[in-house]
Amino acid sequence: MTDAVKLMKQEVGRAAANQVQSGSIVGLGTGSTTAYAIQFIGERLKSGEIKDVKGIPTSFQAIVLARDFGIPLISLDEVDHIDVAIDGADEVDPQKNLIKGGGAAHTQEKIVDSLASKFIVVVDSGKLSSKLGTQFLLPVEVIPMAVTPVMRAIKALGGQPELRMGVKKAGPVVSDNGNLILDVKFDQGIDDPAGLEKTLNNIPGVLENGIFANVADEVLIGEVKGDQATVRSM
Ligand code: A5P
Repeated sequence: MTDAVKLMKQEVGRAAANQVQSGSIVGLGTGSTTAYAIQFIGERLKSGEIKDVKGIPTSFQAIVLARDFGIPLISLDEVDHIDVAIDGADEVDPQKNLIKGGGAAHTQEKIVDSLASKFIVVVDSGKLSSKLGTQFLLPVEVIPMAVTPVMRAIKALGGQPELRMGVKKAGPVVSDNGNLILDVKFDQGIDDPAGLEKTLNNIPGVLENGIFANVADEVLIGEVKGDQATVRSM
């Protein structure tokens, strides 16, 4: 990560954390940008600027960060609403549709982000794209015994799936839910994000795919000019 990208991620994370109000239930997303938001929410709690905030984590990573930064956690069984969710994205189109799942956490992220009254996406300007699927492969979480037929079904839809392999771990990446991840290339990008999202989820054995169509309420974009980072809303 370059210093400029780090600065953009930090500032956009701070801007989202500043929207959290006392007494809120907050969905805590996954990834390096949201990690800054979690840090800044924790710092605001510690300083007394806000109080009574509870977090709903979207991954093992979010649980660990929330504990590190002193945000009390709560489960979906204990709440009837989520006020705001803050989460990153891998690709964002002009209609605020997203590709997520670069960290294999998109299934829990979609559950939490979709339940929030306000879902704020935090990205650096490198994530913006005129068409989804042209810059990032589409992650699809698959139940292990179904991986071969699901790959066949995705090929029939025009995609080129590849099993995501571990780094510093032999064999495939295993998600927080115990499943495998396919990264799918669509040569011409994705023409109909909402349609493909449903079609993929209809394949038996697919748990969830990384298209988030019509879920984001606000996209905060970190930009950098010289050594100054600014944040704008899409
Ligand atoms: C996790 O599975 C993803 O959906 C992340 O939210 C996404 O990859 C963004 O991560 P970064 O903020 O690290 O780019």
